[in-house]
Amino acid sequence: MSLLKKIESIQKEFKAELSSATKDSSKISDLYNKYLSRKGIVSDLFSQLSNVDPKDKPIVGQKINALRNDFEASFDKLGTAKLSNKNISNLDFSLPGNHFFEGSIHPITRVINDISDIFKSIGFSVTSGNEIEDDFYNFEALNIPKHHPARDMQDTYYLNNEKLLRTHTSASQIHFMEENEPPIKIISPGRVYRNEDISVRSYCLFHQIEGLYVDKKVSFSDLKGVMEFFSKKYFGENVKVRFRPSYFPFTEPSAEMDIYWGLESESDYRITKGTGWLEILGCGMVDPEVFKSVKYDSSLKGYAFGIGIERIAMLKYGITDIRLLYEGDIRFLRQF
Ligand code: DAH
Repeated sequence: MSLLKKIESIQKEFKAELSSATKDSSKISDLYNKYLSRKGIVSDLFSQLSNVDPKDKPIVGQKINALRNDFEASFDKLGTAKLSNKNISNLDFSLPGNHFFEGSIHPITRVINDISDIFKSIGFSVTSGNEIEDDFYNFEALNIPKHHPARDMQDTYYLNNEKLLRTHTSASQIHFMEENEPPIKIISPGRVYRNEDISVRSYCLFHQIEGLYVDKKVSFSDLKGVMEFFSKKYFGENVKVRFRPSYFPFTEPSAEMDIYWGLESESDYRITKGTGWLEILGCGMVDPEVFKSVKYDSSLKGYAFGIGIERIAMLKYGITDIRLLYEGDIRFLRQF
């Protein structure tokens, strides 16, 4: 029988055997071995290729290749191709498998992403600033001159006489305004640093999301509306918020926004210092002095805000020690 005929009859035989093996899965691996193992029928066909007339070799070779591909595809469909040398009936499917842990999104990143999505949905673009700044961007241009008491509010890490680690994301407002013309509608999330005593509630670095909106007509009620919109989207429609007058050198008037957290448990008392309210952001109308320092027209109006991320992450995920967020302990991170 010529090799071509043989190939045809093997193909037919295989089809018949395969259809009976699919009814009895214990036969599948035998069938695989019979046709596709190193000493199987297909490999035997390849070894007979050397006896074929050289001019027919390419055709016959192609046929055998096609046959092998066809067989492999049939086994692939059954999901058994990889079982070549194992006997499927010896596998115990009730044994536990190897467990591979998937990575997860860090809670800080998750909060930043979720909040950014809310602001993006109402037209804010996301930018980023620099973690290393100088006195001008972190203080001076934000209307915090040298010897201003507000500098004491933020204990700064200086890298040398000129450079420092930014103490707030507000520094990125200045860069953005220097590089872009109004109108401006941005948020700028990032890491900030302060030389604070490390405890369950404070750490030497943390994260903020800065927001800035500048245009011809912007009012404090626009700011309130947007902050309320954000709070409802993030904490739920029923969230209660309140604005308290506050002071920041770069905004006038300035406010802080609290959300009502409740007083149901002992920890609610502790977190909210017995008031039920929790401060989550600072905000206000951009001070004209800030526009001056970036050479903007003083008739412009704008609002700005700075949201503290760690506090929100701790509330949202019930994290009681801020340090857990930075230690990279896999037992903690796996829960997210
Ligand atoms: N930079 C302030 C801080 O770190 C937060 C802040 C308050 C940012 C008011 C603002 C703002 O943009 O308008 O405490």
